Parts: sequence; C-alpha cells; structure tokens
Amino acid sequence: MTSVRQGIATEIPVAGRRTLAVLQLLAMLWFGGCGGVLTEIPDLNTPDGRVFAERCGACHGKPFGGHGITHGVPDPRFRTVLEWQEELARMEALMREKGMPPLTEVERETISRYLNGHAKP
Ligand code: HEC
Repeated sequence: MTSVRQGIATEIPVAGRRTLAVLQLLAMLWFGGCGGVLTEIPDLNTPDGRVFAERCGACHGKPFGGHGITHGVPDPRFRTVLEWQEELARMEALMREKGMPPLTEVERETISRYLNGHAKP
C-alpha cells in the first residue's frame, strides 16, 4: 500500500495528471475487484468461510510476486457461480504449480459452497 502511495507521489510532478488518473483507476479496479480489506468479506467467520480464508488466503493474504501489494482474500460477490468454477480450477492449477497441497474433495466442496452462496447473481 505504501509503495503505491509513494509511486503516485513521485509520479505526479514527472508525468502529470494523466499518470495520476491512470494510477487511480488501476487502484480502484484493484481494490474494488478484490474486495479490499478482510473484514468486508461476508461470512468469513463461519465454518465454510474459514476454510475459504485458510486455503485461499494462503496466497491472497500475502504480497503477490514483485509488487508487494496485500489485499486479502478475493470477494465472493464479484463473480458469478460459473466464473467461480473457472477461477477455482485456475487457482488449483496455481497451487499445484507452487507445490502446495491440493484441495481435498471436502475442501473443494466447502469452498464452492461458500463462493456460490455469496456469488454475483
Ligand atoms: C498458490 C497461491 C494461490 C492460492 C492458494 C490461491 N490463489 Fe488466487 N491467485 C493467485 C495469484 C498469483 C493470482 C494472480 C495471478 C492470476 O490471476 O493468475 C491469483 C488471482 C486470483 C483471482 C483473480 C484476481 C482477483 O483477485 O480478483 C481470484 C478471483 C482468485 N485468485 C481467487 C482465489 C480463490 C477463490 C482461491 C482459493 C480456492 C485462491 N485464489 C487461492 C494465487 C493463489
């Protein structure tokens, strides 16, 4: 987060308003799309929500790659049931790639139930 703010502060005098606007748009998309802080995510403190937070937060609670932004777990309300099916498969492939233990049948069902229960209509 700090790095984004510093980035904006140093960009303004150099590249002017357009850069700022682009950065703001990116920030809005990023934080909007991912639900922002953990506390805004619905029903995290339920049996299903906890499995979701634990398995998906293993990566999503930490900075990604080089850019160092932490944004918490993704917000289930930003994708439809169908989109979550695809996303879940994609994430399972990423987990395999990173050598993480794969989701068990029960975990996959639990996380799907959580996501589908809060998905975009
Ligand atoms: C192995 C680490 C890892 C795990 C575990 C993981 N993800 Fe991700 N996820 C990533 C990375 C890295 C990206 C960004 C790159 C990309 O989209 O391919 C990402 C991107 C996403 C995105 C798209 C960007 C966004 O935030 O809107 C969604 C949605 C998502 N993950 C959901 C999940 C869900 C749900 C789970 C739990 C089943 C999960 N992820 C578990 C690493 C992980």
